[in-house]
Amino acid sequence: MDYDDEYYRDILDGLSAYYKSPLIADLLTTINKIPAPGLGNAWNFNQISGKRWLVDTLAEHVDDNLEKILLLGGWYGVLASLLLDHPAFSQAHISSLDIDPACEDIALSVNRSQVNQGRFDALTGDMFKFDYRAWADTENALIVNTSCEHIVAFDKWFASIPSGTLLVLQSNDYFSCDEHVNCVDTLADFEQQAPLTDLHFSGGLKLKKYTRFMLIGRK
Ligand SMILES: C[S@@+](CC[C@H](N)C(=O)[O-])C[C@H]1O[C@@H](n2cnc3c(N)ncnc32)[C@H](O)[C@@H]1O
Repeated sequence: MDYDDEYYRDILDGLSAYYKSPLIADLLTTINKIPAPGLGNAWNFNQISGKRWLVDTLAEHVDDNLEKILLLGGWYGVLASLLLDHPAFSQAHISSLDIDPACEDIALSVNRSQVNQGRFDALTGDMFKFDYRAWADTENALIVNTSCEHIVAFDKWFASIPSGTLLVLQSNDYFSCDEHVNCVDTLADFEQQAPLTDLHFSGGLKLKKYTRFMLIGRK
């Protein structure tokens, strides 16, 4: 039996009604409005497993008084929607920064309900040119970079982050993907690449084709 798009849309529509979920409703509206095949990758099993792991671990290790969160390489705003959906981050405003201009409209659409409540914005820009010192004007600010495997001059980016900043970093050992220019072999290598003075969490999550690594702590 072949399933057409309508079949899957009906199911998402039903799930959104059942869970009364703005997250699912906004996702469905985006799928209907913007043709972005990459959104399927952003919502695939491995991507969501790594991001669910991040959200749950962060909720365990960080006080729930975060005021602002900056997502670097924020892509289509999927991590933002998972964080905004979690009660531990109900006080936080999230900004998603990506160098690809195609990401901004999709991230805004995926998080439309949160945009309307003033909790989310999406920016187009280069993480190497961002003024982190001006942005992180409170102790309760968090910078998240789940795209470390995509960053060529990683050391230069890391050096631009002010000391004391709370960070969540993810990388992986998925070397066979062409866009992955900065993978690491092991968690120890990742800790060495991104040395944190106050490490709250360091771990790996075994996924289907690779292991995702995560560090949470202050630089
Ligand atoms: C494939 S995506 C995300 C991968 C990662 N596994 C995740 O889920 O967060 C990597 C993103 O990083 C963005 N990116 C790469 N270099 C960047 C830079 N210098 N500044 C901002 N975004 C960048 C790309 O445009 C892309 O959207």
